[in-house]
Amino acid sequence: MELGTYQNFIGGVWTDGDAKETFAVVNPATEETIATVPNATASDVKAAIDAAHAVQPEWADSVAADRAKILRVAAQLMRERVEHLARVMTMEEGKPLAEARGEVAYAASFLDWFAEEAMRVYGDTIPSSSRDKRILVLKRPVGITAAITPWNFPSAMITRKLAPALAAGCTMIVKPSELTPLSAFELARIFEEAGLPKGVLSVVVGTDAPALAKVIMDDFRVRKISFTGSTEVGKILMRQAADTVKRVSLELGGHAPFIVFEDANLEAAVENAVTCKMRGMGETCVSANRIYVQRSIYADFVDMLANRMAAMKVGNGLEDGVNVGPLIERAAVEKVKRHVEDAVAKGARVIIGGTSESTRGYFYPPTVLADVDHTMLVTQEETFGPVAAVVPFDTEEEVISYANNTEYGLAAYYFTRDIGRVFRLAEQLEYGILGANDGMPSTAQAPFGGVKSSGIGREGSKYGIQEYLDIKYLSLGGILD
Ligand code: SIN
Repeated sequence: MELGTYQNFIGGVWTDGDAKETFAVVNPATEETIATVPNATASDVKAAIDAAHAVQPEWADSVAADRAKILRVAAQLMRERVEHLARVMTMEEGKPLAEARGEVAYAASFLDWFAEEAMRVYGDTIPSSSRDKRILVLKRPVGITAAITPWNFPSAMITRKLAPALAAGCTMIVKPSELTPLSAFELARIFEEAGLPKGVLSVVVGTDAPALAKVIMDDFRVRKISFTGSTEVGKILMRQAADTVKRVSLELGGHAPFIVFEDANLEAAVENAVTCKMRGMGETCVSANRIYVQRSIYADFVDMLANRMAAMKVGNGLEDGVNVGPLIERAAVEKVKRHVEDAVAKGARVIIGGTSESTRGYFYPPTVLADVDHTMLVTQEETFGPVAAVVPFDTEEEVISYANNTEYGLAAYYFTRDIGRVFRLAEQLEYGILGANDGMPSTAQAPFGGVKSSGIGREGSKYGIQEYLDIKYLSLGGILD
């Protein structure tokens, strides 16, 4: 099924812009072209920034309640159109329909949350050291912002950035992944219908992502960039941001440990491991990448996990009953194969899966590897695929050192009934997000983000909007005049 031709959304106008050619969006389940999109150029990005520049002062001075209303209407439109939005997402990204519906709801939840936060951009008054003076702290929008977003959450990773930007009074240029631009265009349509003034949001996409990003990074008028993607690209953007001293929010790679202690509720730990591992076919930054299980329950855990994962149905996410879709592209399947082959060559046991015979579509089956150790790629790099690599451990101290022995620090999970241990690990694990007896902690009201090479800044929650606000202080003298 074809979805047709889409256009870029620049300064409130649907347009081919300066594009001389189009590019194809491909369904990873069928390898068929589902849509074509004008291949945006540097001058299209510049036009989007010009449009944002023209409207930024008026948008910054708009009434918070009016901005909140637009966000609320957009959230409602998303919910009304969930079936259409989910189908588009499944077709371009591959995730099963039920998950795509879940992502639409997750994406809309950021719009609702930040509609509320728009109303709570409070300042402060500070006692001054003179009777004749008053000190006031004001919050103002940072100005024009840009979001560079990934393919694995084609909708939610946009709204998690766009909603706080709009709530704060910032304009935004969104550059989605060229692998999944259609959900971004669908969102732009919704905001247009919700009454967002022209120029406040532009969505521009092209296949030369570094060239488009460079225009954003070089333009002094863009005061903030928010990026979700690889640590490698995040570092480049951070370097580029230095030249114009832009603010940066970076949500980068993860390498999540998932730890199961012998006192845990084993059934719950297995269920959460499946959810955490298999959400998005394992292609999320917070997917469990290394599963550590205490030796006394290791064999039982591996059996239960393998039984549960073997029962999952792999296929085109549009089909009923499918709960494991394709990976995003051929290269992703190759990387997973490389990780599994490396582990097997170094002594890991394949309990289920472990080979991909798919000739059409980028499929890799749910795979459980046992007897994994730290010499293997699966425990050294983010696999970004449906491979559960299970490592035995003996003591709490040992597993904390395993978990922290990485440059990444996004999400970590652990299962235990010992409340003291819950706090010890919360304090000692070097991660921004901790799921204690919880394999799915992501939610709009909590601060999402990492430490170390997993990033800078927080998204969602009451903290998320602060990333789009500048602090000013007003020192007011002459009170006694
Ligand atoms: C991500 O993988 O980058 C986001 C996952 C989430 O929001 O839970």
